[in-house]
Amino acid sequence: MKPLLREFLPEIPIIIAHRGFKRLYPENTITSFEAAIRAGAHMIELDVTLSRDRKMVVIHDDTLDRTTDGKGWIHETDLAEILKLDAGSWFDPRFKGEKVPTLEEVVACCGGRTFINIEIKESAYEPEERPDCIEQQVVSLIQSSGYGHQVLLSSFHPEILFRISKLDSRLLLGFLTEEPDTESVFQFAGKLDLYSWNPEAMSVTEGLVQEIHRQNIRVFPYTVNSVSQAKALVEKKVDGLFTDDPALMIQGLNCSRQR
Ligand code: G3P
Ligand code: MG
Repeated sequence: MKPLLREFLPEIPIIIAHRGFKRLYPENTITSFEAAIRAGAHMIELDVTLSRDRKMVVIHDDTLDRTTDGKGWIHETDLAEILKLDAGSWFDPRFKGEKVPTLEEVVACCGGRTFINIEIKESAYEPEERPDCIEQQVVSLIQSSGYGHQVLLSSFHPEILFRISKLDSRLLLGFLTEEPDTESVFQFAGKLDLYSWNPEAMSVTEGLVQEIHRQNIRVFPYTVNSVSQAKALVEKKVDGLFTDDPALMIQGLNCSRQR
């Protein structure tokens, strides 16, 4: 079993701030990540995809419409245009002027201060492996950042994970699923040396957690926003969870960071 995160994060459960402190701040922004770190989140989660000019941008959707004042597909918009947009006002006028960050910016700002879960969006997957494919760019960035031991790379798309593991087998991989799809987890687990299975929270049973633990894979369900649901998952022995409100979870589960 790869020991790195466990070594550094002995607390169970690990609280992972979903798109930062999403409940109170505009998701996937530096302000949201900063707030999550202040709240004591053990790890922040972010979503990354490619702009038209193949730069890594931190945003959840395939389009700009919901979380910025722009419109259109991200893969059809150049980074310079994306950087002009307001990614805060849609959430609250107080956050006017917030930008869509690049992955480089988030790693530079948050690396070394918290663990980072980089979710590579399926939309960024290209069947033909190009030298500047998203997997290659993410791996190069992590390698040069020096924070490789504090990063978990995840995706719903197994091919993305296969590519990363080929590029650097030391990196920690998390496989995301929407359905209670243990078959595919087991199918990929051996081939990928998965660090974690990140399932939709409703699909988690104690039996599944036990089975996955027998493969030495950790279980981090998403997205858990009530303390009662979190406590029920902890009873099922999950290793951590994704939440929009890290402050609520840390307090409710009494798992503040002790370093
Ligand atoms: O990684 C957990 C969660 O972020 C997966 O779903 O759609 O919020 O990226 P989504
Ligand atoms: Mg995500």
